[in-house]
Amino acid sequence: MDNILRGKNIIVGISGGIAAYKTPQLVRLLKKCSANVRIALTDGGTHFVSELALATVSEERVYRSIFPPADTTGTDYTRHISLGEWADALVIAPATANTLAKLSAGLCDDMLSALFITLRPGKPVLIFPAMDGQMFLSPSVQRNIATLAAQGCIVISPESGELASGQCGTGRMPEPESILSSLEEALHCTAQDSAFYGKSVVVTAGPTREKIDGVRFISNYSSGKMGFAIARAAAQRGALVTLITGPVHLATPPGVTRLDVESAVEMHGVAQSFFKSCAIFIGAAAVSDYRPVAAIEGKMKKEMPEIELTLVKNPDILAEFGIQKAPGQLAVGFALETQTGLDNARKKLKAKNLDLIAFNFFDRKSSGFEVDTNIITLIESDGGTTELPQLTKYAAAGRVLDAIEKLFVQQAGINP
Ligand code: CTP
Repeated sequence: MDNILRGKNIIVGISGGIAAYKTPQLVRLLKKCSANVRIALTDGGTHFVSELALATVSEERVYRSIFPPADTTGTDYTRHISLGEWADALVIAPATANTLAKLSAGLCDDMLSALFITLRPGKPVLIFPAMDGQMFLSPSVQRNIATLAAQGCIVISPESGELASGQCGTGRMPEPESILSSLEEALHCTAQDSAFYGKSVVVTAGPTREKIDGVRFISNYSSGKMGFAIARAAAQRGALVTLITGPVHLATPPGVTRLDVESAVEMHGVAQSFFKSCAIFIGAAAVSDYRPVAAIEGKMKKEMPEIELTLVKNPDILAEFGIQKAPGQLAVGFALETQTGLDNARKKLKAKNLDLIAFNFFDRKSSGFEVDTNIITLIESDGGTTELPQLTKYAAAGRVLDAIEKLFVQQAGINP
């Protein structure tokens, strides 16, 4: 990827969470990429990171209040408006419960909340909530996050791990490198020069449910987050994205056409109708490999001491596409492995005739189902591999799309 941050005007909004101590490092990374950085620090934020440190690394004064000192002259009176105009993107990290509440309600009693509503339409806003795990899960925080996401903000859920309280839970801010990658991805927004522009992309996501009877099913822990992140990032690059998803609790990314299904057979049926027309098929769903031979009508009663469930194989959706794809179409898969699985991933790439496979190791802490980060190794059909660091799923999605763009360019070289 080119240095998309060069010359870009980035505002870093910092509110009062312990993770604020990492923000000078984020600012340094942005400056290293030749971005222009301005900082809006809340009063709470000053308890965790010094204004002087931030001013030094950003080489700019730090903005806090919307009310300038009495001896102010010129444009400083309307700084909250000019900052909103100036910014190419706003990154709020960490975003506390209080800041989320203010932003979602449209309050503006400090520079960060005021410039949030003066930001020009279409400019990406990335929000990194970070707080105690119980606070993060509270209905009010979740409601405010949903409101901001519905407004088009890119809300990146916190990571799991040890928290400042000494407890373990979901609430940690991603590392500055990962925040930077997410921002780079967001800045790809509707880039007309992207190889994805105008291309039809189909993404499968989430788990499938295979009915045992009217009230029970076989499924897996897939949350759909990786597939949704891919769909969001592809749509931002200008692709025409169809997202075929199993049952998940996720909002549809902006500009994406979403088709909800339940079982593998249903997913297969819907996916098949795009096989001929799509340019790229990305299988990110955790499709159940087997289904009960027939679902029992109504609710099965526990009359028997033991029962046997006969399962039959489900269609392999991605393999079917890979094997019948026409020249110019690309097939991309994921390989979730619990063992040292690079070899298994390579086998899947070959067996399903894929152009690219993303191998991800399943540990449920930093990679795999449910969590918000992934550690991926990309394997191309010529055997070339690229190991990625731990990234937010959104940033990881961007890297997968970069690899697909590279394949397009190679293909265009072969068939100009
Ligand atoms: N896939 C699919 N349809 C299936 C099974 C898998 O489209 N019935 C796709 C997945 O979306 C993923 C890739 O194939 O992109 C690999 O899925 P994975 O579950 O890792 O492997 P399987 O092929 O199911 O093999 P196994 O479960 O034995 O590891």
